Amino acid sequence: MKSAIVTGANKGIGFEIVKQLVQNGFFVYLGSRDINNGVSAVEKLKAEGISNVEAIVLDVSNQASVDNARKVIGAKTSVLDVLINNAGISGEWEQSALLSTADHYLSVYNTNLLGVVRVTQAFIDLLKVAPEPRIVNVSTSMASLSLAANLDNSTFPKRYVIYQSSKSALNMYTVNLAFELKDTPFKVNAVCPGYTQTDFTGHQGTSTPLQAAQRIVKYALIDQDGPTGKFFSEEYFPEPETCPW
Ligand SMILES: NC(=O)c1ccc[n+]([C@@H]2O[C@H](COP(=O)([O-])OP(=O)(O)OC[C@H]3O[C@@H](n4cnc5c(N)ncnc54)[C@H](OP(=O)(O)O)[C@@H]3O)[C@@H](O)[C@H]2O)c1
Repeated sequence: MKSAIVTGANKGIGFEIVKQLVQNGFFVYLGSRDINNGVSAVEKLKAEGISNVEAIVLDVSNQASVDNARKVIGAKTSVLDVLINNAGISGEWEQSALLSTADHYLSVYNTNLLGVVRVTQAFIDLLKVAPEPRIVNVSTSMASLSLAANLDNSTFPKRYVIYQSSKSALNMYTVNLAFELKDTPFKVNAVCPGYTQTDFTGHQGTSTPLQAAQRIVKYALIDQDGPTGKFFSEEYFPEPETCPW
């Protein structure tokens, strides 16, 4: 049976990703920074008949927590097929290129960028053993430099500079990671789930968590002919599906 780990999976899009991966035949480690929330999420899934899942304490902003999660999972399995870097925070409103403090940037980057670096590096050895390893980094169209650079586009958000730039950095990390793994079976991509109804958005949005998770899981399931080192966003770029940034 293939296995996967999903960060920030106790609720929202991550929770739905876990559900869909299990439905696709995976055993899934459900990452949660709070063990009680993780155990509750697993109980909720089990009540729905989804049993191939286990809660793992994983705070991506804390190296010791990531190392401990790696140790715990390493004692259970010697191979991981899929890593979904889903955990993310927006930071406090309002964000300004001129006024937001460096400390505010650091706190958001510590989760959205450095969290992905920590988790990817910690689990890469287990992923390398898999025949067709997949990494999906959950990003956003709001990180698109090409869209943001049109200063006259009043509909494109420009007041989330910390969140947006953290995900732009994540997109660049994704490309460089894919480059370093390009002569291997790895597929590494960044995907926007769409504007989704979760706690993150105050339950506003055009997509349900189920639809958002489908967009992410699709890239965990791609075959060897599939893309790597790309960014995908169905909502802002319906045609073609991929965009440069
Ligand atoms: N919702 C949208 O419209 C939208 C659009 C584009 C991209 N995204 C991205 O999608 C991802 C999931 O967002 P969501 O909408 O599902 O948000 P959500 O409902 O707020 O869930 C976020 C998850 O990340 C976890 N998390 C936050 N900081 C963490 C840390 N340091 N370590 C481990 N887990 C941590 C949260 O855990 P706690 O429960 O402990 O807080 C929660 O499980 C994020 O990366 C977000 O940037 C969302």
